[in-house]
Amino acid sequence: MTEAILLVGGQGTRLRPVTVNTPKPMVPAAGVPFLAHQIARAAAAGVDHIVMATCYLAEVFEPYFGDGSAFGVTLEYVVEDQPLGTGGAIRHAAEHLTCGADEPVLVFNGDILTGLDIRGLVDSHQQAGADVTLHLTRVDDPRAFGLVPTDADGRVTAFTEKPQTPEEIVTDQINAGCYVFKRSVIDTIPSGRPVSVERETFPALLASGARLHGKVEQGYWLDLGTPEAFIQASADLVRGIVDSPAVPGERGEALVLAGAQVAEGAKLADGTVVGAGARIGAGAVVQGSVVLDGAVVAEDAYVHESLVGAGATIGPRTALHGAVIGDGARVGADNELRAGARVWCEAELPDAALRFSSDR
Ligand code: GDD
Ligand code: MG
Repeated sequence: MTEAILLVGGQGTRLRPVTVNTPKPMVPAAGVPFLAHQIARAAAAGVDHIVMATCYLAEVFEPYFGDGSAFGVTLEYVVEDQPLGTGGAIRHAAEHLTCGADEPVLVFNGDILTGLDIRGLVDSHQQAGADVTLHLTRVDDPRAFGLVPTDADGRVTAFTEKPQTPEEIVTDQINAGCYVFKRSVIDTIPSGRPVSVERETFPALLASGARLHGKVEQGYWLDLGTPEAFIQASADLVRGIVDSPAVPGERGEALVLAGAQVAEGAKLADGTVVGAGARIGAGAVVQGSVVLDGAVVAEDAYVHESLVGAGATIGPRTALHGAVIGDGARVGADNELRAGARVWCEAELPDAALRFSSDR
């Protein structure tokens, strides 16, 4: 049996970046709450007990995920009174693990989508006899991540979270937010106070001579830190560019959920999902976007790489490019919203109120 801790709290899953009412881990990506993909992927890799470490009320998750049996896992919720940081959350959640001191425990950041071979990471951890094994990936700009240089044998030589100076950028290998810990190593993290696994635990382990092993795997990997990334993740799941057993229905250019109405002549493409009870009008074009439950995209509207919140309305001929429309908002006809536009939940934008122009 393999146990895992899923980190779902702190800043990483804050509501703010997506102006919808639902907490970010529960915003649907490809038709189901984002976390369902992480849970389903872990289950498919043989994980059978998951402890969800959160600062949210368990009521946010329990109605959907319950005891995990629908996913073939036993799911427990551990709620921190105050955010304990990544390391503190791991330590706190570990009280619910049942495995022995030498056994591997998977830890996942809750805001990434990855095609990682999870089983392969555990095997590599066992083979290396490591204390901790980290999944590493390579990115063009590593500044927003944890930098993890390794030697020729894959041994981690340093861990620098969010480098501040150019001199600190010694590698393009970053912490991809999935670890295998030897259980006994988790028990060395101090309890009862906030601890950052990236800033405190990993550097301390390295200083003490512990064996940290880095496994570079360059498959699909996306950090969902921005709404744009979230929209991309949903589209990639719908199209099967990254695999998740939790996507309902067939992979393809669009996923239309039960009770949605798509008018004849509307065009759905590039991994668009249309939520339950949503309506897409005739002549509308929706590309690479997330249209949540009960939303309305009126006739001849153009929605491109955008998120339309639950129950929101997009008026006729309105164009959205890289916009996020909050739940229940009403965007009138003949508007144009471009990259970065965020319409708050329940807000109303009149007809012909906004357009973009390159006029000088
Ligand atoms: N339960 C709990 N309590 N979870 C937390 C807490 C906390 O106090 N703080 C953070 N988390 C969870 C977040 O929900 C997220 O899933 C994960 O831990 C990482 O925290 P973020 O706040 O998202 O960190 P980040 O994105 O800036 O950086 C992390 O992820 C990068 C990869 O996406 C670091 O692990 C980096 O080293 C890494 O490169
Ligand atoms: Mg994050």
